[in-house]
Amino acid sequence: MSHHPDSIAPHGGTLINRVCSPQQQAEYLDQAPHLPRLTLDERACSDLELIAIGGFSPLTGFLGKADYDGVVNHMHLANGLPWAVPVTLSVPADLADPLPLNQLVRLDDPTGRFVAVLHLSEKYPYDKLHEALHVYRTNEEKHPGVKVVYSQGDINLAGDIWLLQRHPHPLFPTYQIDPAESRALFREKGWKTIVGFQTRNPIHRAHEYIQKCALETVDGLFLHPLVGATKSDDIPADVRMRCYEILLEHYYPQDRVILAINPAAMRYAGPREAIFHALLRKNYGCTHFIVGRDHAGVGDYYGTYDAQYIFADFAPGELGIEPLMFEHAFYCKRTGQMATTKTSPSLPEERVHLSGTKVREMLRRGELPPPEFSRPEVAAELARAMQIPIGV
Ligand code: ADX
Repeated sequence: MSHHPDSIAPHGGTLINRVCSPQQQAEYLDQAPHLPRLTLDERACSDLELIAIGGFSPLTGFLGKADYDGVVNHMHLANGLPWAVPVTLSVPADLADPLPLNQLVRLDDPTGRFVAVLHLSEKYPYDKLHEALHVYRTNEEKHPGVKVVYSQGDINLAGDIWLLQRHPHPLFPTYQIDPAESRALFREKGWKTIVGFQTRNPIHRAHEYIQKCALETVDGLFLHPLVGATKSDDIPADVRMRCYEILLEHYYPQDRVILAINPAAMRYAGPREAIFHALLRKNYGCTHFIVGRDHAGVGDYYGTYDAQYIFADFAPGELGIEPLMFEHAFYCKRTGQMATTKTSPSLPEERVHLSGTKVREMLRRGELPPPEFSRPEVAAELARAMQIPIGV
């Protein structure tokens, strides 16, 4: 599938589509009983889905060794295109060993449903410590992304995939807008410039501020909350989506905003993941991408603006999507509005600074975030979801 000449090119120039035609699906269903079988975890399922729908264009499958090495060591695929986070199917050696090369493997989701086939082209061991240090910039097991790398299998299985069928998302079917569809929607609306927004936290006023600052300079805003696997103490996706619905209803111009789910799993790779997130949104048709403070970070593994600095490691135009960078935003008591140190002369004590992490801690203590941080309708929804009596 090639892209429409009016819209931004997908990464690599072609929007990948690896969803089976009904005929192909029927053939694979026939073969299924004779194929060796692998069960994927939640993250591998997300990755599989994103490859199939073109979110990870130009990838057509899980990374082979040359691509893996290029991505881990210098953030480029073997063909020279930028790519910052390895997308691998990592399995224990005892499962990998019996699988014959150059044949089909049946891939099941965690519930045992047959979801895809893999044309197994390569099996290779990899260095987990090396991956952790390069991709996550730490070897500490308590980093949630590193923890996944350390706990996954020792062998990467590589090869092209075919997804049997595109199922509606079980929780958010109306917000499942795949890259071909978002591109068509942007065209329909006549938007030439679209800014994408990644998030894994309940929306707060700093998010709203940077989204709207960005929207002042482009045609449309593509709100793209991540709903794939997150660490267990992050706020569940359904609660976050409801907060977005509530906010859109009251505080956003309906004709300038599209809310859609990003099925990806969170890696918490900070700077590397900011590049990964930007390329994903390019594939969905965005021309711009918001990168604020500590994007995709966790704990204090990354400097506040490291996820912005990393964009300078790429040649101008190489990524093909424009990052819009924002300083740490806060509510400024002196000017009575949201601001950053670029736009307000306030003293530190005049700033209301909160983070997703602080809000999660407050909610756990039974406190509601103040109106300078969360719109009251969002605070009320969080309280309801976390079963906190309002007014306490
Ligand atoms: S993330 O892991 O998905 O990046 P989060 O949902 O908190 O986490 O952030 C979404 C986006 O908003 C990121 O680009 C992040 O840098 C930005 N952001 C979050 N809080 C602030 C803030 N107070 N000031 C500026 N940018 C912010």
